Amino acid sequence: MATSSLSCSSSLVLILLLVAVTPVPGASERRLPITTTVTKCYPATNATNSTAFSADVLSLLAALPAAAEPTGFATLRSGHAFARGLCFDYAAPSVCHRCLSLAAKNLNLTSGCGANSHRAGIWSDGCFLSYADNNATTASEDALRPRVISGADPQGGSASYSELQRLASVAQFLAAPAAVNDSMLATVNATAVSWDYAARSTTRVLAQCARDRTAAECDRCLEYSALVAASCCWGLDPWRDGVAAAVLGFNCYLRFEVSTERVPLRQRIGMVVNHYPFTTTVLFALVVLLVMGGFGHTDSDD
Ligand SMILES: *[C@@H]1O[C@H](CO)[C@@H](O)[C@H](O)[C@H]1NC(C)=O
Ligand SMILES: *[C@@H]1O[C@H](CO)[C@@H](O)[C@H](O)[C@H]1NC(C)=O
Ligand SMILES: *[C@@H]1O[C@H](CO)[C@@H](O)[C@H](O)[C@H]1NC(C)=O
Repeated sequence: MATSSLSCSSSLVLILLLVAVTPVPGASERRLPITTTVTKCYPATNATNSTAFSADVLSLLAALPAAAEPTGFATLRSGHAFARGLCFDYAAPSVCHRCLSLAAKNLNLTSGCGANSHRAGIWSDGCFLSYADNNATTASEDALRPRVISGADPQGGSASYSELQRLASVAQFLAAPAAVNDSMLATVNATAVSWDYAARSTTRVLAQCARDRTAAECDRCLEYSALVAASCCWGLDPWRDGVAAAVLGFNCYLRFEVSTERVPLRQRIGMVVNHYPFTTTVLFALVVLLVMGGFGHTDSDD
């Protein structure tokens, strides 16, 4: 399970990072919202009766929030229409219900993609909802990975290539545990993905799959999302305090929540000493010698 994923590329990361897999429910209650809502529409691929299909979709959208409420996930069928709903993270049932109701309202056939779309998906800050004329995800749905980020400056931030790579490695490391988990969800608090002596950055990473996927599909989906997260310049930055960012997919969801704090001076000195015990000892000895030598010199001059 988790250990098998540690074998090759992740082991180095694990040495570098103080990673603690912490499936702690409710750990992210005060996180920043990502206010962008993404809607994706695909035209009908099938000669389904549109009138009948629309009626089926509407009944599914109405039923989905309650169906998903207890567990955070549901897949439903009515006639030729299918719908799926997924609430992100450890959402409380009432929060999940509210989120999917709102998503359903935004996605309904008149205000959403229109009656000519027979496949559609919507991602808000808290949940994902989709409908389709078929239960299998299409290739274009599988390949879709929009990225969304909190705040007004999506292009901002200045993460280095290696910092993005390290965040992506943490996400990759979560793919296997998420895939074999009952709730198909794994989180981790990665500290020291980035650190220096003045500030400490912690990134909570959430990796989650729609629960009707197989473990292999889930793993593959998240690995691809991690790859997309690592590609350049989208504002995800382990030094941007209070940034939240997500990589969206029809079958999986990946989110990063960054927080940074200043390191107190005494701790900073302790860190320097710990990291460079030899250098600091030599420097300390030199300073002592200089100070004592200086006194001796002054004495003999007088
Ligand atoms: C489409 O479905 C509606 C409602 O079920 C039905 O009244 C109508 O006759 C159907 N149209 C076609 C062309 O099958
Ligand atoms: C859709 O397919 C998935 C995976 O094969 C399955 O688990 C799920 O029950 C199906 N949903 C419906 C409504 O048939
Ligand atoms: C078209 O609809 C039929 C009946 O629902 C379904 O069996 C078939 O798989 C659909 N084809 C495509 C390409 O979606």
